[in-house]
Amino acid sequence: QRSLLGLKELSKEEIESILDRAAYWENHPVKVHTAMQGKFAANMFFENSTRTRFSFEVAEKRLGAEVLNFSAAVSSVQKGESIYDTVRTLESMGIDVGIIRLKPIGVLAELATRIKVPLINAGDGNNEHPTQALLDMYTMRKHFGQLKGLTVTIVGDVLHSRVARSNLWALQKFGVNVNFCSPPNMQAPELNASYVSMNDALKSDVVMMLRVQLERHESGMLSSAENYREHYGLTADRASKLAKHAIIMHPAPINRNVEIDDELVEHPQSRIFPQMENGVPIRMAVIERALS
Ligand code: CP
Repeated sequence: QRSLLGLKELSKEEIESILDRAAYWENHPVKVHTAMQGKFAANMFFENSTRTRFSFEVAEKRLGAEVLNFSAAVSSVQKGESIYDTVRTLESMGIDVGIIRLKPIGVLAELATRIKVPLINAGDGNNEHPTQALLDMYTMRKHFGQLKGLTVTIVGDVLHSRVARSNLWALQKFGVNVNFCSPPNMQAPELNASYVSMNDALKSDVVMMLRVQLERHESGMLSSAENYREHYGLTADRASKLAKHAIIMHPAPINRNVEIDDELVEHPQSRIFPQMENGVPIRMAVIERALS
């Protein structure tokens, strides 16, 4: 079985083969393929999602799979059933692959030792969000032709960000210069990455804005949205200083006019909606890999 728990432990070659296979799917726009005909995929979301959940569902359906959608809010989790018992229950019904999003950190790795079907991490706590980073890398590679030598600055709430971690670990394998730019109380010193000023962030090839994750904050972390925007937001004024070849990214959902100005979301240099579009072929490639 070929689970995908994170990118930290995945080789550059494995990542590259997923990106190449995603390009294949993008260039073969058959609406529904038969690659996964007769296979069951379960999307098990113990935390809310729009993009990841639906793009996995589109990917599964495009591969011809039967799709089961599990949502913790309307399940027996509400009666106290554990994550393990829930996943084991779906496994016992004969699923072939499980897509899983979890709030707690560390649970997924343990779960993967006890569950036999391949598991794909759709985001676990602030640990990893591998398919998001893969679609981010795919988006960068598509724009620049190659990843090596790029400077990528990830701006904002790094402390709570699984997207920042997966991107850092994966991009570094490709010779990308990854920096962070964060308020002091949203930094993650244990990651040993370099932090730059907002002015320096604007000199990057890719400026990746992060959502301020209010739901994970302790009280008082964010003094005000206006204050955050003033110091760490990608405002229209700041965006005007970007190089012409540079691109703006954001994993979304977006707090408009907090970490990024409303008018920049669909700016010609923004790749925010193309990122979402690229999520489908990336997830097709990852599901295919899990079942190969
Ligand atoms: N980017 C991302 O993971 O979005 P969702 O939380 O909507 O899935």
